[in-house]
Amino acid sequence: MVPLEASGPNAEQIRYWNETAGPKWTAFQQVLDEQLGALGRRAMDRAGVARRERVIDVGCGCGDTTIELGRRVGPQGPVVGVDVSTPMLERAATQARAAQLANVRFENADAQTHRFPPGQCDLVFSRFGVMFFADPVTAFMNLCVALRPGGRVAFICWQPLRENPWLSLPLQVAARYITLPPPPAPDAPGPFSFADPERVRTILVRAGFVEIAFEELREMLTVGGGASLDQTVQFLLQGVGPTSAALREADPAVRPRVAAAVRDALAPFHTAAGVRLGSAAWIVTARR
Ligand SMILES: C[S@@+](CC[C@H](N)C(=O)[O-])C[C@H]1O[C@@H](n2cnc3c(N)ncnc32)[C@H](O)[C@@H]1O
Repeated sequence: MVPLEASGPNAEQIRYWNETAGPKWTAFQQVLDEQLGALGRRAMDRAGVARRERVIDVGCGCGDTTIELGRRVGPQGPVVGVDVSTPMLERAATQARAAQLANVRFENADAQTHRFPPGQCDLVFSRFGVMFFADPVTAFMNLCVALRPGGRVAFICWQPLRENPWLSLPLQVAARYITLPPPPAPDAPGPFSFADPERVRTILVRAGFVEIAFEELREMLTVGGGASLDQTVQFLLQGVGPTSAALREADPAVRPRVAAAVRDALAPFHTAAGVRLGSAAWIVTARR
């Protein structure tokens, strides 16, 4: 797959998802799909995905949701996964081939600027892939144009970090040993940029959507997908999320102490199924 040039309004994110985050999401793909799969399926249920529907999966990453959407719409429903991360899309293409789904394909493209065929899509879907646009109003306008009149958008996004102990607990523990980078501005591209429903509503209204609805989803997550306590610590410290990001900037000598402290903090939440901690997300739906 030809890498996407890191240019245009989302150049910084394109670089980040190819050079830093993409290789990590690919390395931990099974764990992440195990952990996030149920949340994505809840969003699909809410979207009411129907047979033969034409779907765009925005920020599809390693393709887990694109494949599930492909199954739900059936062979006559084309599904396009769009992403800016070449390593993640390569994994997605491999997974789709293994699943033998001829109706699923992938585009290495920026969903904010890509010229989708206008009015050809019934549903724009995303599992945690729409919070990274430099200009979310322009991005959602672009996606709105791709939808047929009356077409739907449905996505799942995180509530604030403090409502997600699966991420905030290890970060608080790490903060005892390292200086955390300053938190990003609430509307800067990043995993929590859609945490405020009023902001999301304003973005969608300005982009041309109506019937905007939010469903709150508070779930216990199996952090690390049910791996051992040590593997879960490794996932949180070397994989994805704010603790691993903070540690990348810190003195490597401090890592063993952080790892031991995070292990102690997670131990009370370790069950036969793995480490179980709370999460909070929004499922957002709207119509063109
Ligand atoms: C948090 S990951 C979620 C991946 C996948 N949806 C999942 O749930 O496993 C966010 C994804 O959005 C993609 N992304 C970020 N900015 C994008 C953009 N402007 N256009 C398309 N995809 C983008 C990233 O490359 C990444 O794959």
